[in-house]
Amino acid sequence: MTARTYVGAVDQGTTGTRFIVFDHEGQVVSNAYEKHEQIYPEPGWVEHDAMEIWENTKTVISDALAQAEIEADQLEAIGVTNQRETTVFWDAETGKPVYNAIVWQDRRTTERVEQLEEEGKVDEIREKTGLEADAYFSATKAEWLLEEGDPIKMERARPEDVRDRAEQGEILFGTIDTWLIYNLTGNHITEVTNASRTMLYNIHDLEWDDDLLEEFSVPREMLPEVRPSSDEETYGTTDPDGFLEAEVPVAGALGDQQAALFGQTCFDAGDAKNTYGTGSFFLMNTGNEAVESDHGLLTTIGFQRSGEDVQYALEGSIFVTGAAVEWLEDVDLIDDPSETAELARSVDSTDGVYVVPAFTGLGAPHWDQRARGTIVGMTRGTRKEHIIRATLESIAYQTRDVAEAMEADSGIDMTSLKVDGGAVKNNYLCQLQSDIIGSEIARPVVDETTALGSAYAAGLAVGYWDDLEELRNNWQIDREFQPDPDENVDARYDRWMDAVDRSLDW
Ligand code: G3P
Repeated sequence: MTARTYVGAVDQGTTGTRFIVFDHEGQVVSNAYEKHEQIYPEPGWVEHDAMEIWENTKTVISDALAQAEIEADQLEAIGVTNQRETTVFWDAETGKPVYNAIVWQDRRTTERVEQLEEEGKVDEIREKTGLEADAYFSATKAEWLLEEGDPIKMERARPEDVRDRAEQGEILFGTIDTWLIYNLTGNHITEVTNASRTMLYNIHDLEWDDDLLEEFSVPREMLPEVRPSSDEETYGTTDPDGFLEAEVPVAGALGDQQAALFGQTCFDAGDAKNTYGTGSFFLMNTGNEAVESDHGLLTTIGFQRSGEDVQYALEGSIFVTGAAVEWLEDVDLIDDPSETAELARSVDSTDGVYVVPAFTGLGAPHWDQRARGTIVGMTRGTRKEHIIRATLESIAYQTRDVAEAMEADSGIDMTSLKVDGGAVKNNYLCQLQSDIIGSEIARPVVDETTALGSAYAAGLAVGYWDDLEELRNNWQIDREFQPDPDENVDARYDRWMDAVDRSLDW
């Protein structure tokens, strides 16, 4: 009897790394996870140790295979999905990073972006990349690594001659997908959705943009080759003499938010999902048309299959949602995120309190790098439960901000929204979300849609799955939440917008 086969997915997120083994029905067979260290060298700076991420990746792959009691050669393919924008530089000779990865949340290049604004360059950047100029994206992080990394101040300093060596292709640039594909296969490759988040890639011409490379002084020699998200040619295979002891094709990759779009089977124009993680990322497929936003959304690449045109998406990137609940824990208002629903329910309302968790500035639709976290409306009667409830409500209000922008840009009246991510296990939050945006919320059975999306991309490439229809049939609903129209929602939302105004440009 031939052994059953599976597809595996590495899901490398902001706080940890997961490997999931999926079967042909798209069900989770095994799942292993490791956290990694968050490094905050200065206020507003966020770094990761890329080597720790690679070591954790190997550990979770081995652990998940052991859990499933399967051998690596039972994997028909591996997919990769990852925190986007996070920027890694490494030495092509040694394979070792030359500096910590600069994480998407990092704000060290805020002033450089303000300079771009003053010089009137943001329109050109938006036209070419679909992105709102912001320190969030990779371009200014790469520029910083090429110019500024201070070897005296930091133990993990990059070498002095980074630029010279980058021009010779001896120092390589990559986002986290690239770093993992490089370590898994030995090839320096990225895929198109990740490239679309660098602010160096032209999403219409589908190539690295010469003008932007010049603006940020990034040598072309250090950039990876850009491939489809699901690639029949494959990005390469794992090394049979390496840690897996098997030659498994690595055949699909997607930035994590695009992977969730794919895993939620949002294959057609108008299909939308919202993922609740560290932040929340609301994406709507717009088909082969790159829709320009007039309401503060990003235009980005949704996915691309080998030999097909790219599908674009509109994206509302909300920087802090789950991280706001983590903050409640950090300041000892809660012991564990699972308590929030009960504590929030223990009061009738927030009693007029609004929390705007703009800890790293505000993303869509406000795009204010200097916005900061704000609590307004407190009185002597405010209790911690009100603040907890207001923090959960901030997650739902921020989603309404982008949902309204999405409807205005797309002209599509949203009736149902697919949701996923860790926080949607919280029924209270799902109901709150449905009430505040006034539309149905649909939660799927498999909530690991990010990993599932990259497994689908890899599995389609090697013929494990035949077509998109097969994947659509795998999608099953766990629960729907219907809005309970409360006359006050609109009035409360107006107050929320006042609270946001107060957090801006701090
Ligand atoms: O753009 C940043 C996003 O990709 C991070 O996602 O899930 O790691 O917080 P997550």
